[in-house]
Amino acid sequence: MNNDIKKILITEEQIAAKCAELGRTLTEEYDGRFPLAVGVLKGALPFMSDILRSIHTYLEMDFMDVSSYDGQMRSSGEVKIVKDLDTKVEGRDLLIIEDIIDSGLTLSYLVDLFKYRKANSIKIVSLLDKPDGRTSHIKADIVGFDVPNEFVVGYGLDYAEKYRNLPYIGVLKPEIYGGT
Ligand code: XMP
Ligand code: MG
Repeated sequence: MNNDIKKILITEEQIAAKCAELGRTLTEEYDGRFPLAVGVLKGALPFMSDILRSIHTYLEMDFMDVSSYDGQMRSSGEVKIVKDLDTKVEGRDLLIIEDIIDSGLTLSYLVDLFKYRKANSIKIVSLLDKPDGRTSHIKADIVGFDVPNEFVVGYGLDYAEKYRNLPYIGVLKPEIYGGT
């Protein structure tokens, strides 16, 4: 599995330190407010698990599964709900947890949806931001790391459902996806 990786962009240690740091910020932000943490499946799962254990206040968790990629490397331009929340959003303080913002399409769809459902507040924390990929005007409130405009995998991020269990973020060798 490691042989498919061209280079490691962010190490396991850097990720752990960042989760602890962001957890402290979010603890201050949400202390006493009982936010609803919304994880965007499947990519945000490792990040959600790590960051939530660094947030030291009561919170509730739920999950949303949306898809716009269909296993490919480019967005299909459409977002569809694969799994909706079980929790009522009205009046809640939402913390959306994402693995990466690329085009921004997924998050602008989710933010619009949660506004329509009358959330009291909506904040986005994304482990990674790929600013060069942006086609919509969305911005995360909190970002862990900026990454260059390359396809990255690991720590939740996949290529054709592989590599999500790598403990670091790496760039895939082009020959793996038939690129150059
Ligand atoms: P958008 O374009 O809607 O993308 O902001 C968000 C979702 O697209 C996936 N994505 C990636 N997945 N490596 C991946 O493994 C990447 O470099 C990458 N860029 C975007 C991801 O699922 C994210 O939630
Ligand atoms: Mg995702």
